[in-house]
Amino acid sequence: MARVTLTQFLIEQQRSDQPIASNLRLLIEVVARAVKTISVHVGKGNIAGLLGNAGTDNVQGEAQKKLDVIANELLLQANEWGGHLAAMASEELEGPSLIPNRYPKGEYLLVFDPLDGSSNIDVNISVGTIFSVLRCPEGTRDVDDTAFLQPGRQQVAAGYAVYGPSTMLVLTVGAGTHGFTLDREFGAWVLTHPDIRIPESTKEFAINASRARFWEPPVQRYIGELQQGVEGPREQDFNMRWVASMVADVHRILARGGIFLYPLDDKNRRNGGHLRLMYEANPMAFIVEQAGGAASTGRQAILDVQPSGLHQRVPVVLGSRNEVERVVAYHAEAD
Ligand code: AHG
Ligand code: MN
Ligand code: MN
Ligand code: MN
Repeated sequence: MARVTLTQFLIEQQRSDQPIASNLRLLIEVVARAVKTISVHVGKGNIAGLLGNAGTDNVQGEAQKKLDVIANELLLQANEWGGHLAAMASEELEGPSLIPNRYPKGEYLLVFDPLDGSSNIDVNISVGTIFSVLRCPEGTRDVDDTAFLQPGRQQVAAGYAVYGPSTMLVLTVGAGTHGFTLDREFGAWVLTHPDIRIPESTKEFAINASRARFWEPPVQRYIGELQQGVEGPREQDFNMRWVASMVADVHRILARGGIFLYPLDDKNRRNGGHLRLMYEANPMAFIVEQAGGAASTGRQAILDVQPSGLHQRVPVVLGSRNEVERVVAYHAEAD
């Protein structure tokens, strides 16, 4: 059977009863091309001397890896000249990156986490790229942070790439969630996982359990019940996984179900959580909801959170619907 490429998929989406604008299609193709280049760099590892720290910090005080900086540059350069964007924002930049005057400006805003899970890069464990596309509010003359501060519900597209044993691109334009695998010989994105559905129930959870003593009571209760297994109120055993690359953990959940939590705790409370709303939580929440799963802060749907800053953090609970709903119920009972 003929292979469906990303280009064919997007053109067919343009012709469907939920059509996407041709400019959005072209923008996604540019991002997908940049991701291919990042994949090549990630794959070279220390042959190209790309592991280790860059020697600089980002605006959040994290030590930047060389590949954080390279992936950020590749995405900025690939996307600045296409004419589809009004501006970009990134984990690695304090404020918006404006389109240089020599290029035309477009109607969209692109937000990204150029390299997710970068603490894993030096140990050769999967990392990824996450992106989100918003419309630039009409009438915006000079783009500043406020143009980006739209609830995730307003995203027009979101996706991530996972650089694992194979490189995959998982994408939503609001009509389901679809997975493409990079054919490295042909340089083509091949549709391998059409219409991904997350099972409603699961026996697998993902959380950084080293923070257990800081968790709030509803999370203590929920994880405690899972750990009691067949002897506890859930009357079944649960398995645990934690990659510490959100892309890899979320990808596993899309592939076989599960629940992922990076909840509010006593240590991250003053930051509002750990993961970043605009370029981690929102795109992943859109992807997960489009695959039939759920995504919550524990108290509110992530996609309904009104952002107040480009680098704002939020608690994240996402994955199999029944489990996420249980965690939300435990929060409601405790509050
Ligand atoms: P990034 O590498 O883009 O800064 O993101 C890291 C995030 C996320 O990928 C992961 O789920 C989480 O941080 C890991 O946190 P712990 O170190 O607490 O496990
Ligand atoms: Mn980081
Ligand atoms: Mn990240
Ligand atoms: Mn990152």
